[in-house]
Amino acid sequence: MMRHFLNLSDAGGDAVAAMLNDALDRKAGRAGWPKGKADPDAPLADHVLAMVFEKNSTRTRASFEVAIRQLGGAPMVMAGDQMQLGRGESIADTARVLSRYADAIMIRTDDHSKVEDMAAHASVPVINGLTDLSHPCQIVADLLTILESGKALPGLELAWLGDGNNVLSSLIEAAGLLGFNIRAGCPQGYEPDAAFVDAARAQGARIDIVADAREAVAGADLVVTDTWVSMGQDHAHNKLAAMAPYQVDERLMGAAKGDALFLHCLPAHRGEEVVDAVIDGPQSRVWDEAENRVHAQKSILLWALGKL
Ligand code: CP
Ligand code: NVA
Repeated sequence: MMRHFLNLSDAGGDAVAAMLNDALDRKAGRAGWPKGKADPDAPLADHVLAMVFEKNSTRTRASFEVAIRQLGGAPMVMAGDQMQLGRGESIADTARVLSRYADAIMIRTDDHSKVEDMAAHASVPVINGLTDLSHPCQIVADLLTILESGKALPGLELAWLGDGNNVLSSLIEAAGLLGFNIRAGCPQGYEPDAAFVDAARAQGARIDIVADAREAVAGADLVVTDTWVSMGQDHAHNKLAAMAPYQVDERLMGAAKGDALFLHCLPAHRGEEVVDAVIDGPQSRVWDEAENRVHAQKSILLWALGKL
């Protein structure tokens, strides 16, 4: 069966754990190397990764490019608005054609049904590089960053602050698959997707949605936030006003455990969801998190292509 990676549950908890182990090993094995040097086994030599971006990206684009090179393969990057896709060619036909040029396809788009459509018509694995619904690649990097800090995933208490968005959906999915707990502080009307919450709870994770920001972070091992306005959303004044109490500042960070870490998928909107003192402070791991996108995606690619 084709290994698409549209959400973390497409792989499952054991495969995500295997990806994390592989990423830790490969990262350790190339410490200090030039970033373009291929891993010695070059497991994806001669492979091409096609990437389609219908939304902006810095980290996902750059880290997938480096990832496929380090695996011995080559990237092919396309902006949706410069493709015939942007003039009405269907996702299905695009999927059929790109499958003849590339060994895997990554797509970043708006409506999640588009990645499902791509997967349904591609004859190579399709990877979700972010949709309005979820951002699974980001969360593999986040989990890697947590493990590197010496914290174990089972039983971990993660606090989320702000918008119940695509990144939170994939974090909740990970909590169900890997056995950690999330307390999300979200304003009314901006709670996370109920289907992800229900699925994680059914797998035994404790997922609490609370309105009070301090309650969300109390006893947390990890404090995580993201932009209040995701790509494609309006900068609605009433949304920003509703989010204001959830800004991660030093006082809020101080209400978590003393050794709590701060993560943010980036790009950050300093002075909105997080203040400089936190994102630039000693508890922040955001630059490791961004670097780990490379290492995580190498393992996602290896899994998708049946090498893991
Ligand atoms: N975190 C993340 O996906 O960043 P980009 O939007 O820059 O790819
Ligand atoms: N929630 C953000 C994540 C960006 C990486 C967005 O969708 O814009």
